[in-house]
Amino acid sequence: MRGRAAEAIAAIAEELGARATGDAALASFSDLLSQGTGARNAPLPEAPPDHPARAHLRPAFAALSGPAPRLIAAIEAIAGDLRWRQVFDGTGAPPTVAEGMLAAQIAGPVGLIGANGDGCAGLFLIAPGVHYPFHTHEATEIYYCVHGRLLLQYGTQSKPMELTPGLYGHTPSNRVHSLTTEAEPVLLIYAWTGPLDRPNWIWDTDGQGGWTRANWSRRDDGSWVKQAEEPVTAALLAEAEGN
Ligand SMILES: [Fe+2]
Repeated sequence: MRGRAAEAIAAIAEELGARATGDAALASFSDLLSQGTGARNAPLPEAPPDHPARAHLRPAFAALSGPAPRLIAAIEAIAGDLRWRQVFDGTGAPPTVAEGMLAAQIAGPVGLIGANGDGCAGLFLIAPGVHYPFHTHEATEIYYCVHGRLLLQYGTQSKPMELTPGLYGHTPSNRVHSLTTEAEPVLLIYAWTGPLDRPNWIWDTDGQGGWTRANWSRRDDGSWVKQAEEPVTAALLAEAEGN
């Protein structure tokens, strides 16, 4: 298992490293992933066998695609080793978000192997018809699509970009973003660099340009649990929009 995990991480690092020639932001991700030597915590509890999103795993893995054959082969090879967990605790999260998303860390504190430095990487499955609302986090993030079609929106005013296999999105620190799936499930590789122990802020609008944000903090089992809400100040909004 460790060998397959290490190969998957090496293949992800190779692909991101190859892309980094035209996108310097990717270089730090390939460095992070270069070897699985970092510290690890106790394994996380897995999502129950009847978790609704599990039904989409097999079809997604059966139809992986993209321009990097080594990467696709490595993801296929590791499918049976992955430990899928629910991303958001069901309390207070929109049901589609709680029931429609699963993550399996390959490298990082709760991964199959450790990661170098302060970061993690793995796979993220989103069921059809899910809207993961605007949110921000301090860590920098990459999503790289290996199955399906994702609408990924950066900033509250912009047009979503489409992620299809072989395309990626780079989320700068504290940039507001949302993810939407349509009729197909979407399978992404995710990678985070930066602090992993900070909140994930989920935003809500009053429909008139005002925003609040709810602090979701990571529990020891790795899931996000809702804490307090607060207004989004003008300064926070400007940073989140990338202005
Ligand atoms: Fe994110």
